[in-house]
Amino acid sequence: MIVGTKDTTLSLARRPRRLRATEGLRAMARETTLSADRLVYPLFARGGRGVRREIDAMPGVYQMSTEHLAEEAAAAFEAGVRYVLLFGVPDRKDDVASAAYDPDGIVPEAVRAIKRRVPGLTVVTDVCLCAYTSHGHCGVVRDGRIDNDRSVELIARTALAHAKAGADMVAPSDMMDGRVGAIRRALDAEGLETTPIMAYSAKFASAFYGPFREAQDSAPAFGDRRSYQMDPANAREALVEVALDIEEGADIVMVKPALAYLDVIRRVREACELPVAAYNVSGEYAMVKAAAEKGWIDHDRVMMEMLTGFRRAGADLIITYFAKDAARLLSGGR
Ligand code: PBG
Repeated sequence: MIVGTKDTTLSLARRPRRLRATEGLRAMARETTLSADRLVYPLFARGGRGVRREIDAMPGVYQMSTEHLAEEAAAAFEAGVRYVLLFGVPDRKDDVASAAYDPDGIVPEAVRAIKRRVPGLTVVTDVCLCAYTSHGHCGVVRDGRIDNDRSVELIARTALAHAKAGADMVAPSDMMDGRVGAIRRALDAEGLETTPIMAYSAKFASAFYGPFREAQDSAPAFGDRRSYQMDPANAREALVEVALDIEEGADIVMVKPALAYLDVIRRVREACELPVAAYNVSGEYAMVKAAAEKGWIDHDRVMMEMLTGFRRAGADLIITYFAKDAARLLSGGR
């Protein structure tokens, strides 16, 4: 057979490459889409004025006093971001996390500031005690152990304080048993029966949270979180957690982290009909930033490929520190 003659042409009914030839054809065949309205942007609020402190291992992420925070929220909204997830960094910590459920605490203050500045932005608040307890655990400690039921009481009070301040949704991240139901009852009892709950349902005890603990100043002073967060080896157990949270009244369920847990995202997607969120956590963000800074990977392409992968795995929503940058790219800007 002579190369270049018709004889070398295979007769193939199926040539998958046909649909890859031009951007137009690729767009027609595209199965997964990513858009800014699938992204949730985390923000870190702290007290004082004029504070804008970058997190070491999270370039581009800042702890901000509320006036800067409101500006950042406005800039994100301008870029196409529609939802933020708010974390507080309090001025004081104690054994019972009293700053967490203070109606004039940092999160309620930040919710009001953002709502004033960007009324169209949907504000979700992270509900946990770890940044507010002197020991850094997500619950209160008794006899060296995390007291589940006492913690749940305080977590419900915290959610209530956020919702009363005007939060559009509350998101408990503590992983105590029964907290979704307790929050639901606390909200309902105060006439806030329409405030939805996004539950961190399958939250794993992950080393990928490292950089975040500096961002929210919430590293545990002793021990670790393995008595309440899930074992990274378990996927079936994630479905148990999801089922419980749904039973207790969760409106959106979450898998966290995302990158090493794509199978869990997929299984949760198939096991329930509620919206599923995936949390693209601090360590996942830090790895991309560090490698890109060294010139080892293409930042924007890796970012978009990761976010698309979470969508393909089944996530309806992605909580990501990349939200503002990705939203800009998606709208064709830079
Ligand atoms: C607090 C909380 C954590 C994260 C979100 N909420 C840290 C933890 O559980 O230790 C992690 C977020 C991230 O790493 O980006 N309970």
